[in-house]
Amino acid sequence: MKDNIKILAIETSCDETAAAVSKNGLNILANVVSSQVDWHRKYGGVVPEIASRKHMEFINPVVEEALKEAGLQLKEIDAIAATYGPGLVGSLLVGLTYAKSLSLALNKPFIGVNHIAGHIYANFISKQDIETPVVCLTVSGGHTDLLYFKEYGEYEILGRTKDDAAGEAFDKIARYLGLGYPGGPIIEEKAKNGKEDAIDFPRPFLDKPNYDFSFSGLKTAVINYIHNKKQKGEKLNINNIAASFQKAVIDILTIKTTKAALNKGVNSVILSGGVAANNRFKEVLEEKLSEHDIPLYYPDHELCTDNAAMISTVAYYQYKKNDFAELDINADPNLKL
Ligand code: KG4
Ligand code: ZN
Repeated sequence: MKDNIKILAIETSCDETAAAVSKNGLNILANVVSSQVDWHRKYGGVVPEIASRKHMEFINPVVEEALKEAGLQLKEIDAIAATYGPGLVGSLLVGLTYAKSLSLALNKPFIGVNHIAGHIYANFISKQDIETPVVCLTVSGGHTDLLYFKEYGEYEILGRTKDDAAGEAFDKIARYLGLGYPGGPIIEEKAKNGKEDAIDFPRPFLDKPNYDFSFSGLKTAVINYIHNKKQKGEKLNINNIAASFQKAVIDILTIKTTKAALNKGVNSVILSGGVAANNRFKEVLEEKLSEHDIPLYYPDHELCTDNAAMISTVAYYQYKKNDFAELDINADPNLKL
């Protein structure tokens, strides 16, 4: 195989338009992300139609910026990659079609990448000597997946959410409280001034022997609590609600992840997805795992949320295995790992 493989990757699965260039997978030459959050904030969540339109507006300048940052011209790129799922179908189609067109025009191979695999591999960009096998928890706005990662490309799903994703629960509670979007960072901020044990919210599925999650019951319990308080004309302590809700989510994630790490006898635990940006969560999980001498690793902040660097890294490992896609590959909004 050729040395110094340079891959241009595009990521448009949700509301970030992103392009990146990597050299040999882990050396990120450029990582450009254009967030649309300001356009979606006033609606309290991502509006798919707006997301696709904004991707169309931003994709060209974002790719040009990434090439400029990498100091490369298109002809020097060895392969083009794009996320083809999971995500919003209209959003995925913009990045995927753009990338496939580039691949056709330049006569370079095309690599279709799973967004969730991208989130996992973000860990290996931030810390390049993580010893496998590891247990990986992916917690984002769309996913809560616990998996056993043997080595690059080989993983086994241990459990996943049966209803809402962890990040989705943060977003929905924040919206119900009128705090804005995205909910995770706002709830984390409010929780800093609240008491974690002020309200005893449920921790669903902790009694189950498997590694599956459920956050919809917890979300309903928080909403009912707020509703009852309002009906009685009592004042809401937003900080205490945020802290107690966040603690319930953290407890569920920490207990299940630690159990999986012990049962699988892994060398370390890695985190991925937007909720991995939550500092209180990382602190609690790190402390629990350290009781068993298991280190916790997580990506740098800008690699936790959606970006194309992580997509280019996965694409490199697919490149090494000749795992290229035909140009009739379609977007798959429900793509699984
Ligand atoms: O991975 P991501 O950027 O997008 C996908 O969903 O794929 O994750 C976004 C999610 C949102 O639900 C957001 O509220 C949550 O990650 N999030 C957080 C924090 N920062 C982002 N949740 C809890 N605490 C945070 N600090
Ligand atoms: Zn994501």
